[in-house]
Amino acid sequence: MPYPSLFEPLRLGSITLPNRIIMAPLTRMRAGDGNAPTALNAEYYAQRATAGLIIAEGTAVSQQGQGYPNAPGIYTQAQVDGWKAVTDAVHSKGGRIFLQIAHNGRNSHSSFMPDGTAPVAPSAIPPTLPGFTSDGRQVPIETPRPLRLEEIAPIVASFVLASRKAIQAGFDGVELQASNSHLIDQFLEDGSNTRSDTYGGSIVNRMRFLLEITEGVTAAIGSERLGVRLSPFGQYGGICDSNPMRLFLSIVEELNKRTLAYLHLIEGRGSEIGLGDALHEDALNNAKIFRPHFEGPLISAAAYTSSSASDTVRAETADAIAFGRLFISNPDLVKRIAADRPLSPYDRSTFYGGQEKGYTDYPPSGSRYDPR
Ligand code: FNR
Repeated sequence: MPYPSLFEPLRLGSITLPNRIIMAPLTRMRAGDGNAPTALNAEYYAQRATAGLIIAEGTAVSQQGQGYPNAPGIYTQAQVDGWKAVTDAVHSKGGRIFLQIAHNGRNSHSSFMPDGTAPVAPSAIPPTLPGFTSDGRQVPIETPRPLRLEEIAPIVASFVLASRKAIQAGFDGVELQASNSHLIDQFLEDGSNTRSDTYGGSIVNRMRFLLEITEGVTAAIGSERLGVRLSPFGQYGGICDSNPMRLFLSIVEELNKRTLAYLHLIEGRGSEIGLGDALHEDALNNAKIFRPHFEGPLISAAAYTSSSASDTVRAETADAIAFGRLFISNPDLVKRIAADRPLSPYDRSTFYGGQEKGYTDYPPSGSRYDPR
C-alpha cells in the first residue's frame, strides 16, 4: 500500500476512524425548502461514506446565523428530519459523520434576518466580501449591527441547542465553525472585534464567546463529541488580528484543556476556503506551529495532495488530513488514494447551488470526470 499511515485507524473522542482521510466541511447550497436537507443531500454524503470521517457542511444554528441561499440549518424539526435521513444513509454505508455548526455573523445580509435589519457582528465593521441576498442576488455588503451584550447569551444557547439537535439527527458529533471569518472568528480577532465590554479588548475577553459555546456544548453532548475548526492567520473576508500568533496560541492552549474530539486547523492563506490552488509560499505551517500545544487529535486541511497528506501524517505533524475540493470530485477518494489511482478534477462552476450536476454525478471510480 503506497500510503500506509493514512490508513491506520484513529480514535477521535467517542468514535474510531478506519482511516485518516477526512471530508472537509463544504457548503454546497443545495438544501431544500425551509433550509432542510433533502434525499439528494443524503445521496451525496452516502457516496462519500468511506471517508474516515465526514464533516458535513457549515449549518446555521438559527435563522439569524444564515448567510447563503439554500444552505442548511439545524433549528427546525424539518431540518432535523432532513439531516436524520442523511446520517442514516451515511451510517447504513458504514460511515461516520459530524455536523459543522455555524453562524455567519457579519458575512450575512439583512434579507436573511428574521426582522430584516442588518446582520449582526461583534462590532460595526463590514467584511470585504460580496453580499448575497436570501434569493441569491449579489449585492453590496452591509455594515453589520453590533450585538448588544444581552443578545450574546441567546446566541451561545443557539449553538448548544443546535448541538443537541445534531445528536437527535443522528450525527456522531459536531464541529464548531470558529474559522474562516464566521461569527466566532469575528469575536476572536481584533480586526473585527473592537468591543469594550467583557467580549472585547483582551484576548481572554475575545475568547469568551468561543469558550462559552465550548462549555455549553460540552455540557449538552460531551467534549468527546465536539471538534473545533480554526483558521489561524486566515484573511478570508478581511478577517485580521494585530497579533495572530499570540491570539491563536492562547486559543489552542485553552482548547487543549478541554479534551475535545479534535482540533481542526486550516493551512495557508490563499487556499483557506479553497480559492487558491496552492498554499502561499509565505504561509505559516499551522499544524507544525500548533501541534506542540495540542495533545488531542489534530486534523489539518487545505491544498493537500495524496502525497503531502501522507507525508504530514507520517511526520506526525497532524493525525489526519481533511480534503475539500478533491472530495467534491472524488466520492471514493479513500479508495483512489489507497490504489494510487488518478484523481478526477473538480468543476468550480458547480460548487455552489444547483442540483445533481457537479454534486452526485462525479463517477465513483476509474475514468476521469469531464465537466463539459
Ligand atoms: C469550503 N470551505 C468551508 N470551510 C468550512 O469551514 N465550512 C464550510 O462550509 C466550507 N465550505 C466550503 C465550500 C466550498 C465549495 C469550498 C471549496 C470550500 C473550506 C474547505 O473546508 C477547505 O478548508 C478548503 O476547501 C481547503 O481544502 P482543499 O479544498 O484544498 O482540500
